[in-house]
Amino acid sequence: MLLDYEDASDEEKDRVHQRFHDFGVRFTNSGRRFELHEKLLKPELELFDGVRIAELGVGEGYHLGSYRDLDYRGFDTNYDMLLTAYKNAQRFGMPLLNLEHMLTGNIPLQDKSIDRLFSVCMLHEAEDTERELSEMHRVVVQNGKIVVVERMCVIEESARAIQRLKDENQFLPEWFSRNGYEINERRFRATYWGESLDNDLMFNFYLVSGKRI
Ligand SMILES: C[S@@+](CC[C@H](N)C(=O)[O-])C[C@H]1O[C@@H](n2cnc3c(N)ncnc32)[C@H](O)[C@@H]1O
Repeated sequence: MLLDYEDASDEEKDRVHQRFHDFGVRFTNSGRRFELHEKLLKPELELFDGVRIAELGVGEGYHLGSYRDLDYRGFDTNYDMLLTAYKNAQRFGMPLLNLEHMLTGNIPLQDKSIDRLFSVCMLHEAEDTERELSEMHRVVVQNGKIVVVERMCVIEESARAIQRLKDENQFLPEWFSRNGYEINERRFRATYWGESLDNDLMFNFYLVSGKRI
């Protein structure tokens, strides 16, 4: 039976989280980088020398190796996630990486202090999407970029999850154009890691990128 993540039992969620964790450790121990970040996100971010990057919703941070040697700050609202991310950063030889706690909808950064801001599979968890987006808008410089990647956060696809994805697909481009951003949208299907290991589940992703003009 197809199951929406929110409808899953705690045991089912724990099983998924444990599987995600084991997979993340195994994946990164093999020296591989997260293709979602390397091949899609980083090119979309249009990095340049001295670029100031911030990420909202770092999670367990298996992707952090992709941001080595960059002026990167990662934020999350969950201390447990940050602790795992910190351990992963150490494992990747990045003990000084800037990982910080934040309160929902309150990015601890000054106005117009960041060139590139991104989130992966975070925004769907926010209770007030508009508030999150206006905070992102506050901290991003003119000509800066915000890139939002969302994945259908389901164990397997359900009709409701597909509807939620469609709703978000409509809202985000509308918000970006309303607030003076040049938009780029991409949709793709990939494993969470962007690479097929052990026939991992495929997810629908979408990426909405806004350049502040
Ligand atoms: C599904 S996880 C994704 C983690 C990571 N981006 C990844 O792709 O593996 C979502 C993360 O966003 C964090 N989060 C949820 N709401 C947030 C918010 N309003 N601001 C910052 N982080 C948030 C959660 O604590 C969690 O670590």
